[in-house]
Amino acid sequence: MTTPHLDRLHVQVARRMDAPALAALNQVVQQMHHEWSGNEYLPPDPRAAEDFFLAKVADASAVVLVAFRTGHPVGFLYAQEMHRPPNPFTSELRVLYVEQVVVLPEKRRSGVGRALFHAAERAARARGLDEVRLETAAVNASAQAFFDRLGYSPYSVRLRKGM
Ligand SMILES: CC(C)(COP(=O)(O)OP(=O)(O)OC[C@H]1O[C@@H](n2cnc3c(N)ncnc32)[C@H](O)[C@@H]1OP(=O)(O)O)[C@@H](O)C(=O)NCCC(=O)NCCS
Repeated sequence: MTTPHLDRLHVQVARRMDAPALAALNQVVQQMHHEWSGNEYLPPDPRAAEDFFLAKVADASAVVLVAFRTGHPVGFLYAQEMHRPPNPFTSELRVLYVEQVVVLPEKRRSGVGRALFHAAERAARARGLDEVRLETAAVNASAQAFFDRLGYSPYSVRLRKGM
């Protein structure tokens, strides 16, 4: 029996037992979005997040991935399959939509985010999906630089006006 190198970066599909780690990792990105958005993104709630991810790891239309380094969870990615049937105006669309991705601050710029996206793209291909899509906050310049490095390009601009 071989023992995997514990310091190797390892990405795997999340299991039920990973839900507390997913909830802890989610707090990092949830707090960031909360600070940027004010009311729209709620403050982190680890208990609610754990329940959410427990449901998602059992949801066949979701992709939940965890990255481990030295045996410790250092990042995660949560994505959802989205199907739009054809209609008189647009063709059928089948995409994997990345809802959340985060790497612990002290583990960034060492390939963890890239490894999570490569695993998500493999999952999208295996499911026969056409594209991976996501949205990111206009103020999140560092995430935009990361997505650019991974070959993602802007395809739409969302606008809003407060009332
Ligand atoms: C965005 C995030 C997931 C990137 O993860 P990461 O593990 O640091 O990324 P990687 O180390 O795999 O970087 C992959 C490539 O992107 C580049 N990159 C990553 N962050 C970058 C930044 N801030 N500025 C410029 N380039 C960056 C890396 O240099 C690397 O490029 P190269 O290997 O082609 O030279 C991470 O910064 C993060 O968790 N941010 C906070 C949460 C967040 O913003 N999530 C997205 C919300 S939509």
